[in-house]
Amino acid sequence: MGRAKKVVLAYSGGVDTSVCIPYLKHEWGVEQVITLAADLGQGAELEPVKEKALKSGAEISLVIDATESFVRDYAFPAIQANALYENQYPLSTALARPLIAKLLVDAAEKYGADAVAHGCTGKGNDQVRFDVSIAALNPNLKVLAPAREWGMSREETIAYGERFGIPAPVKKSSPYSIDKNLLGRAIEAGPLEDPWTEPPEEVYEMTRAIADTPDQPEYVEISFEQGVPVGLNGAVLNPVTLISELNEMAGRHGVGRIDMIENRLVGIKSREIYETPALSLLIQAHRDLESLNLTADLIHYKQGIEETYARLIYNGLWYSPLRDALDAFIQKSQERVSGTVRLKLFKGHAMVVGRKSAYSIYSPDLATYGANDQFDHKAAEGFVYVWGLPTRVWSQKVSQ
Ligand code: ARG
Repeated sequence: MGRAKKVVLAYSGGVDTSVCIPYLKHEWGVEQVITLAADLGQGAELEPVKEKALKSGAEISLVIDATESFVRDYAFPAIQANALYENQYPLSTALARPLIAKLLVDAAEKYGADAVAHGCTGKGNDQVRFDVSIAALNPNLKVLAPAREWGMSREETIAYGERFGIPAPVKKSSPYSIDKNLLGRAIEAGPLEDPWTEPPEEVYEMTRAIADTPDQPEYVEISFEQGVPVGLNGAVLNPVTLISELNEMAGRHGVGRIDMIENRLVGIKSREIYETPALSLLIQAHRDLESLNLTADLIHYKQGIEETYARLIYNGLWYSPLRDALDAFIQKSQERVSGTVRLKLFKGHAMVVGRKSAYSIYSPDLATYGANDQFDHKAAEGFVYVWGLPTRVWSQKVSQ
């Protein structure tokens, strides 16, 4: 008796997920493997990936383009939440996992599979995100993670694959572990494991080195409707085009690089390099528009929600009652977050230089230092007296 009869496997075309196919069948007695490769705008040709799965022994090989849903249903809510894990990482990889989990579960249900599988090891966050998301979507499905259990080294994995006709990687494999999708790239391992070592320029792909960026700044106007990015420079764009164009633009100016020491859920600190040009810029612009349109207390309260929201995405709780509840708050808060933000991109830096909105609650009459000032200065005196009263009383007491 095997662990499962029919399995849907998350498939990338790499050595590890390819080896999962014979491994599931020969070691774990799986009868039928259905692979699923998701197109999330990573820019890789997926037709060869589809073929490779079949050559590696899969009975059915699925390729699903989910790029639009990725942006609309996962990235945009995260932008509305200004979600940055540990204040820096805009969750480009983390957001892809619940979507892939959903595709896997849908396929398992469609094809009558009794399990879902992925190629994650036991050291990362992604295993958590897959396992928990799958459990949330269909608690009756088993989750198999061969690479978490097989205990093979890289060389042993390649050798195992060769026995089943899975070719060893042709080019000398890069020292880096890279995850890529439309929202960005995450790079780790190799020389990056030393936190003191500056990332070699070769790790970057979406963003230029400052030395190669244009000597003239470029301006971009980003428009939002209820917190959702809808246009660039006055042109309304579909979600995928908007992200692609902004990646291009920001990347050209070297904007969107992150180098951080990050705390994984499994207790390990890891050194991560990210490049997330569009996503970083969109969060920066969105936050700025909120500062124009929302009240101070709402902005301040929302900051706590944002931190929690980022952490729950990172920790694999996308499908959770907590996210449902926070989403209700965030959606309500976005009703008047419509308008346009103007940014200047130059030499690795993005700076907001203007914002406008029909819903702006910025009042020039109150803010001005000029003669048309409408602010009641006398009223301030009583306010400050009452505001400072507890401090005054305290001070009198301790100085006695
Ligand atoms: N540390 C990031 C996360 O947990 C990205 C991991 C991506 N994987 C990689 N091989 N670089 O979301």
